[in-house]
Amino acid sequence: MITEIKGNVMYFDGCSTVELAEKYGTPLYVYSENAILKECNEIKECFPDKYENTRVAYATKAFCSIAMCKIMEREGFCMDVVSGGELFTAIKAGFPAERIEFNGNNKLREELELAIEYGIGRIIIDGLQELHMIEEICKQKNKKINVLYRITPGVDSHTHNYITTGKKDSKFGIPLDADVIYPAVEAAINSPFVNFKGIHFHVGSQLFDNCSHLLALETTLQLVKKTKEKFDYDITELNIGGGFGVTYTDEQRKPYEYFVKPVMEKITEFFNQLGMERPAVVIEPGRSMVAEAGITLYKVGSIKEIKGIRKYVSIDGGMTDNIRPALYQAEYKGVIANKMDMPADDVVTVCGKCCETGDVLIKDGKFARAEQGDILAVLTTGAYGYSMASNYNKNPIPGVVLVKDGKSAEIIKKQSYEDMIERECYVEL
Ligand code: LLP
Repeated sequence: MITEIKGNVMYFDGCSTVELAEKYGTPLYVYSENAILKECNEIKECFPDKYENTRVAYATKAFCSIAMCKIMEREGFCMDVVSGGELFTAIKAGFPAERIEFNGNNKLREELELAIEYGIGRIIIDGLQELHMIEEICKQKNKKINVLYRITPGVDSHTHNYITTGKKDSKFGIPLDADVIYPAVEAAINSPFVNFKGIHFHVGSQLFDNCSHLLALETTLQLVKKTKEKFDYDITELNIGGGFGVTYTDEQRKPYEYFVKPVMEKITEFFNQLGMERPAVVIEPGRSMVAEAGITLYKVGSIKEIKGIRKYVSIDGGMTDNIRPALYQAEYKGVIANKMDMPADDVVTVCGKCCETGDVLIKDGKFARAEQGDILAVLTTGAYGYSMASNYNKNPIPGVVLVKDGKSAEIIKKQSYEDMIERECYVEL
């Protein structure tokens, strides 16, 4: 068990959360390595170990750090990066360049140059303009690179509007209008500077229904067929993105198999019928790999009861270390980690310390009676927490600790005030 209760204290992967808070200070992001490995194993079992010619590329945007890159490297995963910064982190972690793929709707020339220089495995191109930029760079550097096209499959997935990415009206991917997609495909096939491997889509995030993936796949397979008919070209890779939902409060998480099995069946059947070899299939999970493997520890500060209305429990972090409730109305569960033996019967609103009314992490949640100095743990914060943290109100970004079987180590040092002003100066003009 990753989470256990011993006496009155919550333990996470064998470590007392109270001791972690004391040792490293709060706020503190804590990741369980065993929980991450559990995700890796579940994915491996139902995907790369089960089907030949399949790969998993962890979407680093969910949590990007040297330590995470090292774990992914050791587990044999590939990595999906979306910026020069993520790419740089992976390379600095010693992650093999050929196992990196690069996504993004507006990759900068210098990011593409870096990617081509490093010799990464794939660039997932978002439009014809990007293809031309890649061709220029490859020509200059005398290199050739593997590419896929990200398409906009025109699927409206059922999730928060900000994280649905496959709709027709989207900044991501290439629209499927015949006069747009086929010239782009033809240009990639004929380019001497790229190896055109195939098609990528990503329909959205935090999904619990496989129908969006299956609908997008249907469209993609038609495109593969048309590409064969029009250009006599065999597509050798399909990337179906990520988006697999996790449990924050009472969502029913689906096993990876629920998503990948029907996808693999559909792909296999389609290529069997066409008499073509099945292309490689890639998935790109981000959130599901790390969300439940992470918690955030805070210290309780000011407590205010507004009679007949609400009780506010303030913590020493907030929207700067977890923007998701403010940005997406995301809901979380939390516990008083040093009062696990007490009934959670006090309804309180957990708010952060930022000068912002919307800085609320948990609205009207049930907790054991909180007092100043208690350790409050917010659960399932491993994805898009640290990676979206900010210095708003000049709050330092908390440190990150990795725990495993009762051992702990800091994998990202917390920012100091000095760190925050290190690059600042005033020049009188
Ligand atoms: N592949 C591509 C091309 C993506 O755009 C994304 C996520 C993923 C993979 C990974 O999706 P996941 O498995 O994590 O759902 N900040 C938001 C999530 C934004 C996701 C953007 N793209 C949040 O905190 O909910």
